[in-house]
Amino acid sequence: MCYAIPGRVESVNDNIATVDYFGQRKKAISEIEGLTRGDYIYAQGGYVIEKIPRTEAEDILSTWKETFFELQELDLRFSRLDLGEKGISKRFGGIIDKALEERDLSKEDLLYLLGLKDPKELNILFKAANFLRQKYHKNACCVHGIIEISNYCRRSCHYCGISSANMGLKRYRMSRQEIVDAACEAVNGLHFKALVLQSGEGAGYSAAELSEIIREIKAKAAALIFISFGEMPRGDLETLFHAGARGILLRFETSNPSIYEKLHPGCRLETRLRTLRDAAGLGYLIITGGLIGLPGQSPEDTVNDLYLTKELNADMFSFGPFIPHPGTPLARAKPPAKEDILKILALARFIEPRRANVVVTTALETLDKKARKEGLLAGANSVMLNLTPLKYRGLYSIYPHRAHETEEIGIQIEETLALLRSIGRAPSDIGIVDHPRGLKC
Ligand code: 5AD
Repeated sequence: MCYAIPGRVESVNDNIATVDYFGQRKKAISEIEGLTRGDYIYAQGGYVIEKIPRTEAEDILSTWKETFFELQELDLRFSRLDLGEKGISKRFGGIIDKALEERDLSKEDLLYLLGLKDPKELNILFKAANFLRQKYHKNACCVHGIIEISNYCRRSCHYCGISSANMGLKRYRMSRQEIVDAACEAVNGLHFKALVLQSGEGAGYSAAELSEIIREIKAKAAALIFISFGEMPRGDLETLFHAGARGILLRFETSNPSIYEKLHPGCRLETRLRTLRDAAGLGYLIITGGLIGLPGQSPEDTVNDLYLTKELNADMFSFGPFIPHPGTPLARAKPPAKEDILKILALARFIEPRRANVVVTTALETLDKKARKEGLLAGANSVMLNLTPLKYRGLYSIYPHRAHETEEIGIQIEETLALLRSIGRAPSDIGIVDHPRGLKC
């Protein structure tokens, strides 16, 4: 089992490797000394993360070869467009044509799509997004793992179950050894190639400690590391980048400053955006997006959230439903409908068809178990599996009854691979068309 397909290096120029995957060429930044033509590597998120022995690579590739093309066939079948539907409105048809021709959609167009109700039209919307996903990302699906290292948090966000104001929650903080062990098991034991380390903000680890942890993981396990520890000063981001982190997951939550300030007492949207901009400036890959269905949020806000994600040059769009948590001030609010989130995944694909990955979040799966498949068929090309040790996972209670909360990782992997196989997707990261930091592949 494999989360990335080995590629063969064709050439290396100024640390940029051109890599061949069964005839498809991609580019990736190499931070590996002496990488040359003919070497076999794993790449993730546009970075070469590991060189592997030729015999091992050839072995893996020979088992993949047939499956790879079979999966692509199946994916193509799922992505075929049949827009000959009768009874769709002229306005809707015009917007879908525009999206498929990759002309910019206006705010009004996006608002119109967000308001769709007709199941026939929704079906076409999702199919069109899936078509664009296939066109640029082929059948690659990122499968990242997330380890939630601590549920301590200094913030008191009104929607979040691990808010410092939730006194009813037992807190945990994984030790350095526990974090390194979990990461090494994920990479060396389970073959994950990209890991997110997440905690509440100000969870009690200093930047120096986090940096040591990242260095130790990087020394023992070849993986692309994303940090997700909330807002941080530029200096700390820099320290963690030097330690080997290459990506950050930080949602801005909402692009509406007044909703932001209401829900995050004492905090400002600008400060959050500064962390994201600092991180991008330092070269981090960016995963960001917002919560959908927050009280007071309008469809215009959602469209602005999508625009802001694009403006931030996100490498991955992360949008999920707000799910009320009983231990928070928003306990009585209602979650949004699943279809609303699926529409947003499709719109994310429309506004950023080539470059960005779009993730199906666990929160969306929590609304409905079928949503992972539906999201992947509505423009998304990424999933994240929860690798937090089971004894802590239930305590990372940002919202109740999270999908996969009690599932052994082996089961999650099996189910994910079976789902991907059933829709023709390869669990890999070879689908990058434009390098996240602007390289054309
Ligand atoms: N429902 C859904 N998502 C939530 N998050 C926090 N609380 C909730 C909730 N009640 C999300 C936030 C945060 C991420 C770690 O979890 O978007 O950025």
